[in-house]
Amino acid sequence: MDTPTPSNEKHPRLLITAGPTHEPIDAVRYLGNRSSGRVGAAIADAADARGWPTRLLMGPSARLPLSTGVRVERFTSTADLQALLREHLPWCDILIMAAAVSDYRPIVPESVLQTKWRRGDGPISLDLVPTPDLLAGCVQDKREDQILVGFALEPQSQLTDSARSKLERKQIDYIVANPLETMDAEHIAATLFRRGGEAIASTDGKVTKPDFAHWLLDQFAPILSIPHRSHADRTSI
Ligand code: CTP
Repeated sequence: MDTPTPSNEKHPRLLITAGPTHEPIDAVRYLGNRSSGRVGAAIADAADARGWPTRLLMGPSARLPLSTGVRVERFTSTADLQALLREHLPWCDILIMAAAVSDYRPIVPESVLQTKWRRGDGPISLDLVPTPDLLAGCVQDKREDQILVGFALEPQSQLTDSARSKLERKQIDYIVANPLETMDAEHIAATLFRRGGEAIASTDGKVTKPDFAHWLLDQFAPILSIPHRSHADRTSI
């Protein structure tokens, strides 16, 4: 476990999560989603290029950062990611939660996790239970000086309302709103909202994911460049 001291280095410490979660149905099958992890890997590369110490918690995706300076830890399920967040959250100055975390997981007997459902078993049904809200858990555990950023992937027509309600419900500092088409795509159009619901910046239409990564870090760089600044001072980006 890392010591929970704020960074006093020149650069902010970035913790980022990316990619899908896989919730096991049996030893070989899972409940997953189409997230590629591309946005998270691009943000990790952009941060490393700026000299920011960067840790990436990456789900089961083939996409990894190109930079060798990024420390990568892998997770499979929501429970794995929850454990990694507990371990790494104290280290960072800012957490960017780009992972597409499953909202549900199947309840599966331990014995089935070691084997396979077989067609010959006849019809089966799965009971799904909600997973914990990991970001909301981080809000409980975080220090006052840490910044938490979420993502909201929503249909265009509900984007602004959903982003604002997620900010409020999760009590996080910022949220990046982007439409559903962003998932597994080459481009992204995004708007950044801060606590209170104000839209503070938007990309200039659709941009590549590497360009988006630099745009996003540009938004946070001014408030992260002064170590130990109080959280209240950090709302003006
Ligand atoms: N998230 C999380 N834990 C979950 C689900 C999502 O921390 N169990 C995070 C995601 O990484 C993202 C943000 O919460 O940064 C929004 O995710 P989203 O799936 O859009 O929101 P939900 O909390 O699942 O809300 P809803 O079910 O209303 O869409």
